[in-house]
Amino acid sequence: MQLNGLNYHLRTFGCQMNLHDAERIAGMLEALGALPTDTAEQADIVVFMTCCVREAADQRLLGQVASLKNLPAPHHRRLIAVGGCIGQRDGAKLVELLPHIDVVFGTHNISSLPGLLTAALTGEGAQVEVPNEDEATGILPATALPAHREQPWHAWLPIMTGCDNHCSYCIVPKVRGREISRPFDEILHEVQALLTDGVVEITLLGQNVNSYGRDLYGKPRFAEILRAVGTSGVQRLRFTTSHPKDLSEDTIAAFAETAAVMPHLHLPFQSGSNRILSAMNRHYTAEQYHNLVRTVRQAAAAAGKGDQTLMGSVALSTDIIVGFPGEDESDFQATCELVREIGFAQAFTFIYSRRTGTPAAELIDNTPAEVIQNRFQQLVEIVQQSAWQQNQLELASTTTVLFEGNSKRDATMLSGRSPKNTTVHAPMPTGKTLDDFIGRILPVRIETARTWYLRGELV
Ligand code: SAH
Ligand code: SF4
Ligand code: F3S
Repeated sequence: MQLNGLNYHLRTFGCQMNLHDAERIAGMLEALGALPTDTAEQADIVVFMTCCVREAADQRLLGQVASLKNLPAPHHRRLIAVGGCIGQRDGAKLVELLPHIDVVFGTHNISSLPGLLTAALTGEGAQVEVPNEDEATGILPATALPAHREQPWHAWLPIMTGCDNHCSYCIVPKVRGREISRPFDEILHEVQALLTDGVVEITLLGQNVNSYGRDLYGKPRFAEILRAVGTSGVQRLRFTTSHPKDLSEDTIAAFAETAAVMPHLHLPFQSGSNRILSAMNRHYTAEQYHNLVRTVRQAAAAAGKGDQTLMGSVALSTDIIVGFPGEDESDFQATCELVREIGFAQAFTFIYSRRTGTPAAELIDNTPAEVIQNRFQQLVEIVQQSAWQQNQLELASTTTVLFEGNSKRDATMLSGRSPKNTTVHAPMPTGKTLDDFIGRILPVRIETARTWYLRGELV
């Protein structure tokens, strides 16, 4: 099986799981001789890694695939492959809808892609292979493939796949399957290989990393992963996503005490209303979320994380859904209140999107779309206010920045991330080039704090 002389283009939607799967696909295609291109136009093979968590993502895929139909190919023809969560959900239906799709593959059989592409290339017609997780036993898991990392200094490291939760709005468990944890030793081996390769920052990935190991060892072992990876020599360790109901005392202690674990926690709360949280099947109340955040901040401050104050010890980010069926004004106000009280550095806000096959899809909702849109706007403003306030805490302090490149807006500015995961810009010193900074961690004194970034001078 060879793809020598062919160019490929990857387009990725959705969460870091897809991003990481895309890195494995790139690694696999390049091992077979294919070369990446910047545009679909130059490519002989276009691979879409799709997301169906909300309706907007679905629509985008259809539009993008449709638009490739009449685009001239660099050689005699172009292959279009659709993978990721829409591939898993829709399978052969995609080819019925858009007959110029050549390959459909799912979330459990990424390693089958080269074989499917080869079959399509040799004129065997559209190839659809979307096994469910039980049928996929024996197929090489994505984690066993070589990855082509986007950035040499950073690695996504999946420690588990799938999700065993049943949040009533969410399609992810359907398209990603049950939780499967990677063996502890395998993770540590990969960490060693990444460190040898020059990686300085690792982000552990899973839909619910807190429950890592429950399937393999009978009890969660996420705290042990944090400690083991955090003391491996990696300079920065991050992880996503944590579910509030599974954030154990032991994990909080490991988070607080392990110096390499960055003082940032992504902890989605979804709604501030207990009635809605219950309808979402989230298994915690707003009060419990509040107490959890307090415990995390106290533990982190006591262990010397961040600036060691309660508010400044850990930067919190979250996900929030507006317009869940039955959400009324008082439910929405409870969400706003929680955002104001907690003080988030960042929040990803989403308008509820009905997903066929989820329990919430059966719920009737009479809230007019304009009301939901209006609530969404209000929430966005509250989130911006909160982020601005959190960034003011950083003024006049010196923080360490892992430099990633130039600022998108201003090529004379370097850009990177602070331990709290905030974007930091600093002017490029004269006589230096980007290569002197990329992938390095250096101190910056913060002089300006805006809503979504900080600016300062290298010290
Ligand atoms: N496992 C992670 C990520 C899930 S998807 C977690 O639990 O946090 C990322 C976010 O998308 C969710 O946190 C939720 O806020 C949002 N989301 C999921 N399903 C949605 C839906 N049907 N409509 C709107 N937002 C949704
Ligand atoms: Fe979806 Fe809930 Fe699982 Fe997150 S924890 S992936 S929101 S079911
Ligand atoms: Fe989307 Fe699939 Fe991730 S639905 S959010 S790409 S798990």
